[in-house]
Order: sequence, then C-alpha cells, then structure tokens
Amino acid sequence: MESELGKKIIYQIYPRSFYDSDHDGIGDLRGIIAKVPYLKKLHIDMIWFNPFFVSPQKDNGYDIADYYQIDSRFGTMADFEELVAELHKNKIDVMLDMVFNHCSTRHPWFQKALAGDKYYQRFFYLRSAKPDGSLPTNWQSKFGGPAWSRFGHTDKYYLHLYAPAQADLDWHNPAVRQEAAKIVNFWRKKGVKGFRFDVFNVTGKAEQLVDSTDRNTEKQLYTDTPVVHRYLRELNHNSFGQDPTIVTVGEMSSTTVENSIKYTQPKNHELSMIFTFHHLKVDYRQGNKWDSVPFDFLQLKKLLFEWQTALDQAQGWNALFWNNHDQPRALNRFGDPIHYREKSAEVLATAIQLLRGTPFIYQGEEIGMTDPNYQQITDYEDIETINAYHELLAAGRTPTQAFNAVKQKSRDNSRTPMQWTDDKFAGFSTVKPWLLPTNQATINVADELKNGEIFTYYQRLFKLRKTEKLVYQGHIKPLWQDHPQVMGYLRYLDQQQLLVITNFYGQATTINLPAAFAAAKSQILLSNYQRQQLPTNKLTLAPFEALVLKLNSSSFF
Ligand code: NOJ
Ligand code: MG
Repeated sequence: MESELGKKIIYQIYPRSFYDSDHDGIGDLRGIIAKVPYLKKLHIDMIWFNPFFVSPQKDNGYDIADYYQIDSRFGTMADFEELVAELHKNKIDVMLDMVFNHCSTRHPWFQKALAGDKYYQRFFYLRSAKPDGSLPTNWQSKFGGPAWSRFGHTDKYYLHLYAPAQADLDWHNPAVRQEAAKIVNFWRKKGVKGFRFDVFNVTGKAEQLVDSTDRNTEKQLYTDTPVVHRYLRELNHNSFGQDPTIVTVGEMSSTTVENSIKYTQPKNHELSMIFTFHHLKVDYRQGNKWDSVPFDFLQLKKLLFEWQTALDQAQGWNALFWNNHDQPRALNRFGDPIHYREKSAEVLATAIQLLRGTPFIYQGEEIGMTDPNYQQITDYEDIETINAYHELLAAGRTPTQAFNAVKQKSRDNSRTPMQWTDDKFAGFSTVKPWLLPTNQATINVADELKNGEIFTYYQRLFKLRKTEKLVYQGHIKPLWQDHPQVMGYLRYLDQQQLLVITNFYGQATTINLPAAFAAAKSQILLSNYQRQQLPTNKLTLAPFEALVLKLNSSSFF
C-alpha cells in the first residue's frame, strides 16, 4: 500500500476559480469537465476538490448546509456524475472535502436545534454563560473574535472555532458520527475514491470545556485529543476503511510528530496520510501570521526533515505540499518570482515532491502562478482576510500597515482565477470574475505550454515519482542540514541511492558532492539547467539549481 500511495500525484482544484463555463464569474463543474484534456496532460492520479456542496458561502463552501447536494452555483448532481465519469475515462480519481468539524448554521440540524428540537441540540456544543454572565469559555475563534455566539433567542451559546456561521458539531454524540459515516458512504457510491477531512484533529474537544490560561496554548484544549483517534478509527471502520483502495488525508492543524505517526500508521486504521503546516509558518514572526518576516530556511528544513525521518522510521506517511487554497503562493514566499520565476518554481517542486510521501499540487502551481498585486482591501473577499484587517486597525496599525500585512498572507492570494490566457479575465470567464487576476499578461497556461519550462518540468518530476522505486518507496536521510542555501537529501532502499540537491537562493554556491556520487559513479536523472556533467568533488550550483542524481548500480561492485 505504501508503494501505491507513493506513486500517486494529487492535484487540487478550487472549483470557484478553475474555469467558469456559464458566465457568472464563478468557476463550476462543467468548467472543470471542459478542462479535463488539460488535466490529462499532467498525468495526475486524483483530484481533490474543495467543497461544492450546498452552502451560503460564508467561508467559500466550508460552511455546508447540505452534504448530499451540489450547490447550484457550481452545477447539478448530473454535472458531478458526468465529471466523475469523464475523469475516470482518463484514469483520474476524485477526492472530496469532508467538513465535519462544523456545519453551516443554515443546515437543517442547526435550524431544528434552534427551533427547540432536543435531538438536534445535542449535535452542537451549547453551553450557558458563566455565573458572572461571561461567555462559556474565553476561547478565540480562528477567524477572530470570541468562539461563542448566542444560540438564537435562548440564554445559551454555541461554539464555533471558525466563523459564527460555522457551528461546531459535537463528535461526542454518536448520532453525529453516524451522520458523518453516512455522508462518506453516499459519496463512495458515486465513485469517489478519496476523502480529505477538514481540520479533523480539532473535532474531539475535551469532555469539559474550560478556560485557557494563555492564548498560545489554548489550542491544546481541543487539538489532537485521544478521542480524535478513537472517532477516526470508528469512521474508518464504518465507511472508507471498507475499501482498501480509498485514499484519505486529514488536515491536522498544529499537530505533533507523535500524533502524525498515530494518524497514519497503517496498523492503526485511521488515515492514509496527513497535512501538517509547521513548515508553512517559517515566515511568521513569533507565530503571528500577520507579521511577516523573510523565511527561516534552516527552520524550514529542520521541520520538514523532522516529520520526514520520524514518519519514515514509524511507517507513517506524509502529504507533501507547498500550496493550497489557504496559503499565499509558495513561489512568493520561498522563491524569487521576479528574477527567477521559472528556476525557483522548479527548485520548490523538486525539493518537496521527491520527499517521502504523496505530493499534492495546487492549481496554477504547474505554470508558476504568483500572488495577485491588489491595491486595496476591497479587492479581497476572504472572511479571514477582512476580519484580520479590521483587527489590525483596531490594534492600532495604520491602514497601510494593516493592508500590507494582509496582502502578504491573505488566503485570496491562491484563490485568484486560474490563468488560462492573457485575456482581460485570464480566459477564466467572459465576465468579471469573483476575484480579479492581475498578472495574466505574463503568466498563463497558453503561454506556458508554448514557451515555458515549468509545466514540462512538473511532468518530468511526476514521471520520476511513478517510475523510480527510490522515490515512491525509499527511505530518507537529510544532508547539508546547516547549509544556508542548500536543501538536499538521500532517498535509499536496499543498495540503491538517489540524491536530491536544490539551491534555494539566487546566488551560486559550492558544496562537496558526496564521493559516492562523483562523476562517472552516478547519473543525472533530472536537472533544471540541462546539466550534463558532474565534477569529482566540488559542485557549484547555479542560482536556484535543482539536480537529481542516482548511483550507477555498477558503483556497488
Ligand atoms: C480549513 C480549510 O482549508 C479552510 O479553507 C477553512 O476555512 C477552515 N478549514 C474551516 O473549515
Ligand atoms: Mg460559473
């Protein structure tokens, strides 16, 4: 199974921003069907779709009001079925996003609870104010403000770790867990082969909800509690675990190495793999997302390798990624989109994709898309961005400071429409899209396929992953851990070794090539500079150079 997971490439589509077929400025399912030939070119195995279920869209579909229906903005169930069939014809499977920590306050469960139905009231965390009249706990919502809102006209409050429109479901209630399994099984019957579980490790709050003593440790009160593992095993048993070919990934916010192992060790029957985010916080000042600093390269490597080596030793499994719909483009954060857009995109791709695990790539990454250059707060749509902007102002930042802070980290950075052409609306739509593209004149699919090198580089990387056992199955050993510019590692299995070397900066740098790999002893499998030859010892890497070497088998004898 491990080798099967290691051969898969998963592409993420943000349906709202992929392709608009019905001219309303919002991407849709028929738009995705129209682009299947493009997706086929990439040789991906599965597509993870962000939620397109019925939703008031307060958090772009992460506030679900009906888990069994397609939101009419995106299409119909018939469109969905056609999309699945079309993808299957091209050997691409479908992964859906299961949002089970919370549902929309428009969901009938919440509405019935509000109307006084006791059965459904037990679906949520309803609590009374403290004797002094203050909120049930002092917890903060992850989108700003308190995590409790008044439950209708009652004297109770309901918990929402995210927006007030996203009410947390009480997983301690077996009826909630049964509903979740039912939803997974419904989509399995439609041919869905993959499931991503949204913020799953915060589902199991402690039995007693208590005040936190400090903001930084507050999350521990509801993250990775032992019951999460128990409920996952139950969900696995009652739904996706019944089909061993199904692929699952849990989004694990602020998790630990120990829990990551537990979630993914095959013997535990929890998940195939997990997303972790520590490596994407290395450009936060003291953990504060809205206070950006140049990224800490040594820390980045340390975190990636910590997870890699620990999960390798324990048969855990990582999802490998730089980008998703919640992150600004990695190219802007860790690359150089101005001077070395193509080379730095290739370095990032090489460094992450040849690690041990299953790579995920996010729409537009394969053409080197970058963050938009918005000029005012009204250009943004995202609830987190807007809330953060107002909180920064309230905390005393000037409008310019607050704007610059959110511009760096806004989730809308990656949510801009896929840039198909250099047209006014990037070939995404014929009408003004819900978010505007700003740099489609220089970055777009049409141009990339004609003149670019990133797309073909991704194809080569994917081929390498699928054909080279060292990549899909090998162990990992980090190298040059203290080097200020180079990320490199060995992948090894039995007697074989593969060496990945990447220069993360726009200056050349020289390293000692491990003797075993010197000229004539190894072959170049991949190079983003068409390098043909290797030196015997000192290797000088060009700015943002990526190189993959494999020992000649003859070197062993
Ligand atoms: C994680 C999702 O990726 C994000 O987009 C969403 O806002 C939160 N979970 C809440 O569902
Ligand atoms: Mg549309």
